[in-house]
Amino acid sequence: PLVKDLFGLTDLEERISRQFGLKQVVIVPGDSDVSQHTKKELGRAGATLLRKLVNKDEVIAVTGGSTMAQVAEHLTSSTSMKGCWFVPARGGLGESVELQANTIASTMAKRTGAEYRLLHVPDHLGEEAYQSLIQDKMIRELLDFIRKARIVVHGIGDAMVMARRRNVDPETTSSLQEKGALAEAFSYYFDKRGNIIHKMPTLGLRIEDIQSMDAVIGIAGGRSKGEAIASVLRFGHEDALVTDEAAALEILKYG
Ligand code: G3H
Repeated sequence: PLVKDLFGLTDLEERISRQFGLKQVVIVPGDSDVSQHTKKELGRAGATLLRKLVNKDEVIAVTGGSTMAQVAEHLTSSTSMKGCWFVPARGGLGESVELQANTIASTMAKRTGAEYRLLHVPDHLGEEAYQSLIQDKMIRELLDFIRKARIVVHGIGDAMVMARRRNVDPETTSSLQEKGALAEAFSYYFDKRGNIIHKMPTLGLRIEDIQSMDAVIGIAGGRSKGEAIASVLRFGHEDALVTDEAAALEILKYG
């Protein structure tokens, strides 16, 4: 039998994919909340899945975060990815440099031998700055390029953890709490039913771009993220999920 069967993970994978209508679920053993090894394995599994899904000359949009950084770590030089482009899914979100989508996109491109384009947008964009940025010819051209992506690979975070990490202002944080924000993914916040309740003011993929993609791949693990992952799955536009055993058991409770 496969090692996976010994852990009973294939059964879990099938249950989650059936419950949430996913095309593919990959579960690695363990709990990334407590084991760095599990988090690395999550990254490895994400890298393997991505390698299988890409076509020649594809634009691949990626988000930031520590899990996506692990996916980047596990990508290796690959002929199938040589003509691909890695781009950030969304611009400035207040993350530290190592965790920014731009950093992840450029690391992925360098490791695989692909190309990349970066989106330099300031953090915490005000309405006025936003309006003037989208008038800029180069920015518009870059946004059009990013929107060519047919694959997006993204992390999923607990809403309050992400709001704190990205220094979201107290007013927005309490409004998120009031509206029952549970999860954050591609800079949108979701409640437990999978409804979008807030959008971070930045540029990049719009929700309608994500809804019409060929492959939306979520990568997130750790028991503490189970409920957040389930909310994003309820949103109903994920195609594949790479997670760990501890998160998977939690997700099932919210199915
Ligand atoms: O959107 C969610 C976050 O990027 C997840 O970050 O992988 O460091 O938990 P993380």
